[in-house]
Amino acid sequence: MRLARDAGHGTSDPLPPARDASFARDVRIGLSGHAKSMSPKYFYDAAGSALFEAICRTPEYYPTRAESALLARVAEDIAAAFPPGAALIEFGSGASEKTNLLLGTRAGIDLYVPIDISRDALAQASARLAARYPALTVLPVEADFTQAFVLPDSAQQRPKVGFFPGSTIGNFTHDEAVGFLRNAREMLGAGARMIVGADMVKDLPTLLRAYDDAEGVTARFNKNLLVRINRELDGSFDPESFDHLAIWNDVHDRIEMHLVSRVDQIVHAAGHAFMFRRGERLHTENSHKFTPEAFATLAARAGWTVARHWIGDAPAFGIFELVDDERAG
Ligand code: AVJ
Repeated sequence: MRLARDAGHGTSDPLPPARDASFARDVRIGLSGHAKSMSPKYFYDAAGSALFEAICRTPEYYPTRAESALLARVAEDIAAAFPPGAALIEFGSGASEKTNLLLGTRAGIDLYVPIDISRDALAQASARLAARYPALTVLPVEADFTQAFVLPDSAQQRPKVGFFPGSTIGNFTHDEAVGFLRNAREMLGAGARMIVGADMVKDLPTLLRAYDDAEGVTARFNKNLLVRINRELDGSFDPESFDHLAIWNDVHDRIEMHLVSRVDQIVHAAGHAFMFRRGERLHTENSHKFTPEAFATLAARAGWTVARHWIGDAPAFGIFELVDDERAG
């Protein structure tokens, strides 16, 4: 078993100050004035990552199960097209559950680079995978994959296959998704390929239930953002004075999550005071849903061609195989 670690990303060093500073800055900007919003990336502290895992176990939240079932079915097909000696680079690896399905194929991947902002998730997943696959080198990178970061040296030498499952791409606006996919293509370099999971547009009740489960796990996940602000930025939020709201946006084909203030209130955080009117919303997440055509258009804007794609049985989830435009065909 080898569990290598990128220099400067050891598990015990304190959080880089830049991260706290950007959280504070994003809270100040996001909660000032009207049209309040925060990036969903701030959901994922240790508690938020655990709550997301719990969401995946609710009967209503189908995407994880749908994607895993589909990936299990097509993993050999996907991996058969990997260039020999390819390193697998995963963006936002979390618990790296779906990665098993690719690591277990005949492609025999021996270098895996999980990238995640949650240190706990990264450390646990890396240890588990390194133990399970004796020939695998795991080089975890603790980073916000929406920002610039450097791949470990030994991965630079290899042909690279990007892996971006979970429909995390749905959290981006289309312009952001294009920017991300373009950066990823550049980072993955010559012969780049990428396997992306994306949730499909479907009937409204299925979509709405998935983001408002009966047990209230998604509501807790949403409100955990406020709990995190309280803890990390000395905030005064009463999470119970906000309601969880999930709605479908017809114009943008996306589920939106909001936190709706139940009362007029002033909340303090990051050294500032923020006014919430009763009924005022804090927009916490977009989760875009795609058609195969919409996804191919998005990928093309970033210089990728969809070589193959697979759509599972209802509730439909899609897996897209992207190849670098210049090398396609
Ligand atoms: C992890 C971004 C794919 O958008 O479906 C789950 C996060 N939000 N329930 C999604 C989430 C509410 C999830 N992603």
